[in-house]
Amino acid sequence: MSHSPVSEDLLIDLTPDAASSRAGPDHKERRGVMDCIRIEGGRRLDGTIAISGAKNAALALMPACLLTDQPLTLTNVPRLADIASMITLLGQHGASVDAAFDGAGGDTRRLTLQARSITSATAPYDIVRKMRASVLVLGPLVARHGFARVSLPGGCAIGTRPVDLHLKALEALGADITLAGGYIEARAPSGGLRGDTIVFPSVTVGGTENALMAATLAHGETVIENAAREPEITDLATCLTAMGARIEGVGTNTLRVEGVSSLTAATHAILPDRIETGTYALAAAITRGRVHLSGTRADLLHAVIEHLEETGVSITPTEDGFVVDARDRVLRGVDVMTKPFPGFPTDMQAQWMALMATADGAAMITESIFENRFMHVPELARMGADVNIHGGSAIVRGRRRLSGAQVMATDLRASVCLVLAGLAAEGETIVNRVYHLDRGYETVEAKLAGCGAAIERVRG
Ligand code: EPZ
Repeated sequence: MSHSPVSEDLLIDLTPDAASSRAGPDHKERRGVMDCIRIEGGRRLDGTIAISGAKNAALALMPACLLTDQPLTLTNVPRLADIASMITLLGQHGASVDAAFDGAGGDTRRLTLQARSITSATAPYDIVRKMRASVLVLGPLVARHGFARVSLPGGCAIGTRPVDLHLKALEALGADITLAGGYIEARAPSGGLRGDTIVFPSVTVGGTENALMAATLAHGETVIENAAREPEITDLATCLTAMGARIEGVGTNTLRVEGVSSLTAATHAILPDRIETGTYALAAAITRGRVHLSGTRADLLHAVIEHLEETGVSITPTEDGFVVDARDRVLRGVDVMTKPFPGFPTDMQAQWMALMATADGAAMITESIFENRFMHVPELARMGADVNIHGGSAIVRGRRRLSGAQVMATDLRASVCLVLAGLAAEGETIVNRVYHLDRGYETVEAKLAGCGAAIERVRG
């Protein structure tokens, strides 16, 4: 019963057929490079924005289906291009997919994934190069199937992003890892993975996720030290526990996993997207407007909210989210440094820079997670932002008004930062390469237009 949804052209079709055709040769590039977002800036946002399920939680939860032959049902699944790519990848490993996104039966945005058997242990280059999160199939495949062959992701627009820590974690559990022809080949010992202590030398979200999933089916106890504490890890651990995994220390930086022989069926509701929440909170602030963010949780983004309040914006909790009010405020420049959770998220750094470009005074923004995440700076400069980069820090000297321009960005968060800048700028902004936005923001233009923004997608 695969429901085929998508009445609105704006939404991404996540049915398996549509997903695999989209993942065909450069489909996104063809369509997305041609499309653009046109914004007539200078309007205050006023209204409510419903927050979707978290992309980065979904991308870790979906591969967990490979750990069992039973069905895994996820609800509150965001409708995004990256989710479609993950569906294609899991299908290639043998998972069947049942998607319901049509609002029927009260279970909207539901995905049921079932890998009765692993039909292929290879994650091919063509999918992995488009979506780095593909590497998250590695741990589950080695743990259940005993073997995985996953293309090395290579560098990306925000840095070299190696996966050495993922591999060391699997080696600690007894996997034999070789690199051949651009592929990682990981093989479990004949009796299966064995629990052991994994000490991450630095915090890695994906590395923790791979290690955690692999450890659920390893023999004996695994201790993961210096584990990432991002809410998406907690969400994954909660889902794995519902599948029968035995995990202690969830939410702390030491995870203890007692391996079990098999996992079972489960249903799990994906937590709200904290980065989408933060992005729209900053959209309200940058337009000096007022927006109610619904279907979300302020506790997922304390650091962002604290810094936002420091700028002069008021935040009021509501029953299912919070209200951001920046009307008639003069915002102050506030420094931030990106850190692993619970610190200020690197995925909010570009958006913060756009906001600071419109604030009073200077702000220093320090990126400590990725070495190359200031690609948005030259584009913001084209809109009149005054930003100087010194190593891993950028000094933003705020000015009240940006001016619209033709811009484009090389990654998701950089792209949305340009959308925010466009909302605040005088005149017309055209943001090119919309496919970046489609990877992580569901119907960005519809959500913003619903609050009064003059924004539209122009099909190329
Ligand atoms: C996750 O990426 C997110 N992606 C990223 O979101 C996010 O920016 C990042 O965590 C940090 O919060 C998903 O969850 C799908 P890491 P991940 O491993 O897991 C280095 C977005 O815009 N490192 O925590 O790949 C790495 O190079 C994206 O939604 C190694 O050196 O991030 C980086 O400097 C982009 N070796 C740092 O650690 C490794 O083996 C943190 O990376 C792994 C990572």
